[in-house]
Order: sequence, then C-alpha cells, then structure tokens
Amino acid sequence: MAGAPPVLLERLRRRVLSPLFDRLGYDLVPAAPDWSHRPVSAREVDRLLAAAAGHMARDLSACGIETDEDVPALVRRFWDLIPTAPVRQRRGGSGFNGALQLYVAMCALKPDIVIESGVFRGLTTWVIRQARPEAEIFCHDPDLSGLQYRDPGARYSTADWSGADWSGIDPARTVAFFDDHVAQGRRVIEARALGLTRLVFDDDAAGHRIHAHGGPAHPTIAMIREPVEGAEPIRWRRNGRLFEQPADDPVAREAAAGIRLAHAFDDLHRATGYSPARLTYVALHPLPEAGA
Ligand SMILES: C[S@@+](CC[C@H](N)C(=O)[O-])C[C@H]1O[C@@H](n2cnc3c(N)ncnc32)[C@H](O)[C@@H]1O
Repeated sequence: MAGAPPVLLERLRRRVLSPLFDRLGYDLVPAAPDWSHRPVSAREVDRLLAAAAGHMARDLSACGIETDEDVPALVRRFWDLIPTAPVRQRRGGSGFNGALQLYVAMCALKPDIVIESGVFRGLTTWVIRQARPEAEIFCHDPDLSGLQYRDPGARYSTADWSGADWSGIDPARTVAFFDDHVAQGRRVIEARALGLTRLVFDDDAAGHRIHAHGGPAHPTIAMIREPVEGAEPIRWRRNGRLFEQPADDPVAREAAAGIRLAHAFDDLHRATGYSPARLTYVALHPLPEAGA
C-alpha cells in the first residue's frame, strides 16, 4: 500500500529542494496519488460513491454493456481497494476516476483475456487484475523500467502489440485497453483486423481539448467520430511544439468505418472531486464471416 512520504524527506523537500526547484522553474511535489486524499465522514463518502455509481451505471447503459453486478456495490468495493494499490503516481498515469472507470468497465465486460498497451508504472494492470483475477493479461510498453507493480500472472513485452502473434486468442473473450499515446485511429484499425470488438481508450479528446493531453494520440476517437468540416486542420501547441490533425485523414476514415459505437464516459470530476477521467468505450463492427 502506498503510504505517506517519509517525514525527513518531506521536510527536506519543503525547506531545501522545493525552493531550489522553484527558482529553476520546476515544481517538486510528492508523488502522492489523488486517492490518498479522501472524505472520511460516512455521509460524504456515501454521496461521493452514489454520484460516481450513478454516472457509471448511465455510462454502461449508454455503451450497451449489461452487468449482473450491482454498480454501487462495485464502486464501493473499488473505494475500499484503491488505498491498497501498490503504485504511487500523481502524474503520467490514471488517477482515482480513471482507475474506477476501468475497474467497473472490466468487471462488467468480464473479459478472459485483456491486452493492455501502455503500462507505465503498472497501476492499470493492477486495476485490471483486481477486476478480473483469472484473466490472461498481456502488457505491452516499450519502456517497462518504471514498473512499480509487475503482475505475476501477466505476460510483458516491450514490442508494439500490433506486431505480436494473437492467433491463439478468442476475440469474443478479449478486451483491449489502449493508454499508449499512439494514434487511436491506428489502434482501431489494428484491433479490427484481429476481429476484436471491445476496446477501451484513455486520453480520448476532441480537437478543442487535445492541447491539454501529453503525447496526444491523434486522430482520437472523438476526432474520428466527428470529422472537422472544411479543409482547415486541427492545430495546437504543446510544450512549444506544434501539432496538426489533417481535416481529411484516411486513417480516421478507415477507423470510422469500423466503429459501431463510441461512448466517452463522464469525467466524474463533479461526482468525486478527483481529476477528470478520459475513458472512452469503443465497440467495433465484427469482421464479416469468411466467404460472406
Ligand atoms: C500514460 S502512460 C500509461 C499509464 C498507465 N496505463 C496507467 O494509467 O497507470 C503511457 C505509456 O505508453 C507507453 N507507450 C509509448 N509508446 C507505446 C507503444 N507503442 N505501445 C505501448 N505503450 C507505449 C509509454 O512508455 C508509457 O509508459
């Protein structure tokens, strides 16, 4: 379980390191996960959980995902579980809201096989494992050096998932989770080629919001679903670098043809106070039967 930072280190940070970093133009803050701050009075906990569960139930229903489990009970189970997460992260990976949505989605979708692309410290692998204790999990990330949680039952690879051999998996029992900062349009096309139909994406953003995302994975699902009108591309600047998403993008067009349904979950910020989640569920059209 991720505890509080050691007292001496924290004192050193506040008195010496932080002022120094400040002068250099950096913020030095402890990697305390957002869930280490939480209401402790029963009424406030109940309100938070009820609000989150309400959104989650509506989102699952909008995705056409049926669950035989009680959504408020799932949300409460996650509330009790998340303080035991073995990963400390404040930035660069999921916070409370994203982790909650992934947990509830995986509990409801019940995959036996999960492909995770974009692992980082391993928080989302841990979340998937909590939701699906018996699932086969395949973790892909070119850089596994930062792992704080290595799942004993998962298979890890630094190769891109698109180059792996998936001939043995049953697409109907599989869910792929993409949080890898690779073009979401490309991931849709790759997943469809394998016959996968159930995908979860992090960091889906519309054109007017994508400037807030690091390593933006465009075209995003939102851009694919709502192509820009006219010839002007979507342009944004991040950390001094200019990015551009063409108005007419063949990748976006091909991906759009494969998508049956895409639903961006509520960001849960108003419900829980934690930083907004950005998860989107995508259902693909099944591949036509061979010879059809
Ligand atoms: C936002 S982090 C993942 C966070 C993690 N899912 C979580 O919420 O805790 C993005 C990760 O994508 C990885 N990445 C970059 N290119 C990738 C690729 N082609 N395939 C898989 N992962 C990739 C990066 O190394 C980084 O660890």
